[in-house]
Amino acid sequence: MSLMVAWLLLLLVQWMGSAVAQPFPNYHANFVDIEQQKNAPKWWQTGAFYQIYPRSFKDSNGDGVGDLNGIADRLPYLKELGITATWLSPIFTSPMADFGYDIANFTEIAPIFGTMADFEHLMKVAKQLDVKIILDFVPNHSSDECDWFKRSAAGEPDYKDFYVWHPGRMVNGTRQPPSNWRSVFRGSAWQWHEGRQEYYLHQFLKKQPDLNYRNPKVRETMKNVLRFWLSKGVAGFRIDAVPSVFEIAPDAAGQYRDEPRNEWVNDPDDYGYLQHIYTVDQPETVAMVYDWRAVLDEFKEGDERILLAETYSPIDIVMQYYGNATAEGAQLPFNFLLITEISNNSNANDYARTIQKWLQHMPKGRTANWVLGNHDQWRVGSRLGADRVDMLNMLITTLPGASVTYQGEELGMTNVWISWKDTVDPSACNTNASIYERFSRDPERTPFQWSGETDAGFSNASKTWLPIAEDYKWVNVEEESKQSLSHLNIYKNLLRLKRQAKTLQQGETEVKALSDAVLAVKRFLPHDFIYVTVLNIFDGVETVNLNQSFSDLAAQMEVVLVSRNPELKVGDRINVSALQLLPKESLVLRTISTYYTYYTNGEQRQLPVLGIYLVLAQVLLYLSSR
Ligand code: GLC
Repeated sequence: MSLMVAWLLLLLVQWMGSAVAQPFPNYHANFVDIEQQKNAPKWWQTGAFYQIYPRSFKDSNGDGVGDLNGIADRLPYLKELGITATWLSPIFTSPMADFGYDIANFTEIAPIFGTMADFEHLMKVAKQLDVKIILDFVPNHSSDECDWFKRSAAGEPDYKDFYVWHPGRMVNGTRQPPSNWRSVFRGSAWQWHEGRQEYYLHQFLKKQPDLNYRNPKVRETMKNVLRFWLSKGVAGFRIDAVPSVFEIAPDAAGQYRDEPRNEWVNDPDDYGYLQHIYTVDQPETVAMVYDWRAVLDEFKEGDERILLAETYSPIDIVMQYYGNATAEGAQLPFNFLLITEISNNSNANDYARTIQKWLQHMPKGRTANWVLGNHDQWRVGSRLGADRVDMLNMLITTLPGASVTYQGEELGMTNVWISWKDTVDPSACNTNASIYERFSRDPERTPFQWSGETDAGFSNASKTWLPIAEDYKWVNVEEESKQSLSHLNIYKNLLRLKRQAKTLQQGETEVKALSDAVLAVKRFLPHDFIYVTVLNIFDGVETVNLNQSFSDLAAQMEVVLVSRNPELKVGDRINVSALQLLPKESLVLRTISTYYTYYTNGEQRQLPVLGIYLVLAQVLLYLSSR
């Protein structure tokens, strides 16, 4: 009889354990504020975004260039990482002068990447895996090989004003470009066209003529490009080079005004030679982004479609892209501050200031985002230190809002030096052998490192379009999957934590420099755990007192994620009044619940303290029955 009671008690204990047996539960799960439930974040608000640079992700047909079937084949990897959505750099028909950012047909797939059927297959796989696909929308320009440009150059009435044409200005009897405007890729932004006998504007390469957004037909045509891909089910767009979309209108005499000089740049071919007051960030551009958002909002079925806007503009302008009191804009104007304002030497105060800058400027009710890298920027490990990759991933994942990762940075891939001879990026090729390294984006675009096999498992071609990094034998998915504290596994655990921890998704944020070297981010939500992320940015051993800097933390906290300290394990309790951090160590900590935490099959489980008493009672009962 007593044995039966014992078994019944045991069953009850097991049931209680399994009822709460999810890792990191809300310990008032049944009493969660109704308010919080109502405000549950939308899919993109806490999303983990991942940029795929298709040329370098996975080559399925052995031509040395990545493609759509390669992406479809490796999408399960993104799922395993815990990625919400991936944005693909352009996959459209293009002569590839700027590797796809020069589009010849906006609604066609480039043969080097595959076919429309391959794209549809990718969409199907993505749907099955629930990884959303976001495309790159390049509104500012087309390729000069685009049919629209050919017709425009030929003066066909429907296309005549599709681009920005001008006869130039006569100076002392000779024809000069219409203004002093510079191209981002060096030299004049105006190119003489023999056929049309006029100059056309190109803010980027001369093979990338600027579309004329003052022409309503252009605006409508580009909206239809959005509609075309939205109908195919894409989750949204990353908008390329947003600030350049409009330039100032010509004056009453039909002339464009010169931009003023930047005195500290002496090279007249350099884009930095001028202050770009007429060619970027015109108010019409902000309004245009609102119009594009309205196009997305036409698509009401399924999940909300989103815009991610690429702009390196001053913060007040970036914030306008979110929308205003009457119109919605891009859900996520990229936050590039960790790229533009943080360097290898930045200290904890610099980090805190930079993070707060975004949070304080962001209009109420908008969602933050944190970008560490992309195909135009040095890899984060090369920019801020290969030994800071984990702490930076911890930072962007535990800050509020969405995080954005450039492919390979979850592995700690770093820049690859490319010789002048092997350089293919037009931004570098337009310079010369002595200065090209300052301009080249090839180092961050080398093929993704899947394994230690030939071509890092990226391709089986004898030559890949850019060389493979020398470190591929140990920096690759296969190797890093085997090591518990690899960049890859830390990244995976971070995304898992973000998915499970309501505080990280919806909580408030406090960011503080605890010393010159230590940055801490506290996240808190009523009735839930408090999380603190701590980073030791420099090379000294640091001791900090979290209780002195933050309220509501007990003397001890539980370790949720570790980066490099072999002495610490997930689940360890540590004294946070005298928290010691190794050089470049980072940690995610959590307050201790009123639950007993235990581990089974590597999973963290929670058991109510009451359950422990029941187990004890059962043991006593069992013993007394003998
Ligand atoms: C954006 C892209 C960059 C491209 C440029 C021109 O900045 O990110 O790669 O070269 O626009 O389209």
